[in-house]
Amino acid sequence: MNKQITNYKHQIKLKLIRSLPTNLKEIEPDIVRNIIRKITESIVKNKLDFNEKEELFESISSEILGHGPIDSLLKDPLITEIMINGCNQIYAEKKGKLSLTAINFYNNDQLLSFVDKILSSAGRRVTELEPFVDARLSDGSRINVVRPPISVIPIVTIRKFNFHTLNIQELIQLNTLNSQISSFLAACVKEQINIIISGGTGSGKTTLLNTLGCFIPKDERVVIVENTRELHLEHPHVVSLECRPPSIDGKGEITLRQLVKNSLHMRPNRIILGEVRGEEALDVIQAMNTGQQGSLCTIHSNSCIDSLERLQVLTLLGNSNISSEVAMKQTILAIDLIVQMARLKNGERKIMEVAEVTKNNASIFTLRRIFVREGEKIIYTGTPPSFYNKLKLDGYTNPLFENNKK
Ligand SMILES: Nc1ncnc2c1ncn2[C@@H]1O[C@H](COP(=O)(O)OP(=O)(O)OP(=O)(O)O)[C@@H](O)[C@H]1O
Ligand SMILES: [Mg+2]
Repeated sequence: MNKQITNYKHQIKLKLIRSLPTNLKEIEPDIVRNIIRKITESIVKNKLDFNEKEELFESISSEILGHGPIDSLLKDPLITEIMINGCNQIYAEKKGKLSLTAINFYNNDQLLSFVDKILSSAGRRVTELEPFVDARLSDGSRINVVRPPISVIPIVTIRKFNFHTLNIQELIQLNTLNSQISSFLAACVKEQINIIISGGTGSGKTTLLNTLGCFIPKDERVVIVENTRELHLEHPHVVSLECRPPSIDGKGEITLRQLVKNSLHMRPNRIILGEVRGEEALDVIQAMNTGQQGSLCTIHSNSCIDSLERLQVLTLLGNSNISSEVAMKQTILAIDLIVQMARLKNGERKIMEVAEVTKNNASIFTLRRIFVREGEKIIYTGTPPSFYNKLKLDGYTNPLFENNKK
């Protein structure tokens, strides 16, 4: 938007502030748009061409009726994430690439009132007393807000809800994995191997989990437990539970741990835990060790071994009656397979490693690496999974595993 248009925008907004009633929310959007159009016409007259005038009108309308300056970013289906670092720095991620946009808020007060508006639609708020919040918007997008005094400026991070979740074919096209790994993982899911998907922030863990969930046989009952609802499995028999944050007066919180415990009473064939992040780790691990086979979850971690160590630590959280040795043993027995993911500098998400957790030594975490990435390729290490025979019983064969060579 050039300087002249920005100038008009400012004048129109000043006039609008005087003309629009304060109970804007109760007025039909079409009536508000009419008022904006009339004022735009009266100020711009013939000094802009039709397209410029329309652009100006749409931009002001979306600021007033929509989500302000970032409305266009929220509406753009190719944008997956928006990061607002104070009023003057807004980044957006498009096709995996993060770049600075030319969009600004006037000042941090305008940014905070945008935050209030968007959070109030989710029944949440952020104040100096509660200066950070996580919420889910009505369209399924996730928002995190941090505001002064714990940051110098308001910081808003939005993970947009993707109406189209990548399917396995698309993940193969994106070179996140190849068809050989895809069919191996599909066989593992069918054969009720307990799998964790490990990776750093935004490395594509949840997306892969969603895709693997679709391999669960259709006659099984799947219970999904999540902090914030993200998974949308293509499966006929799925029920989903979502945590509830405490209300403004601190009451009514429902934790992941409570939901995991409850899910065990729902006669699940499979439990899918969106992300293990706290003391619910013990409940999941115990469930896996007591017959709840074929569970799937993600964990935030940078390597296969780190993910096991993290699980062990999480298991100890809030469970003072178990020792570190027991936590390690339980973790080793529970987890069969780890899929390690990473987000590369160019925005691509890749499977870096697929490793089995070896069970013959319960006092140290050891792995049997099956596939590892070397540059663009993911290669077979020459070591087949110890449960290959189990997969074969169900019709899965892999010539590489048969020959047992690279
Ligand atoms: N294989 C992929 N290739 C390219 N983009 C992907 C891939 N998987 C996921 N994405 C995109 O990356 C973003 C993050 O994906 P996802 O939520 O699956 O990651 P995550 O590791 O679960 O993140 P978090 O750490 O926040 O839980 C999404 O916008 C998604 O569309
Ligand atoms: Mg995730």
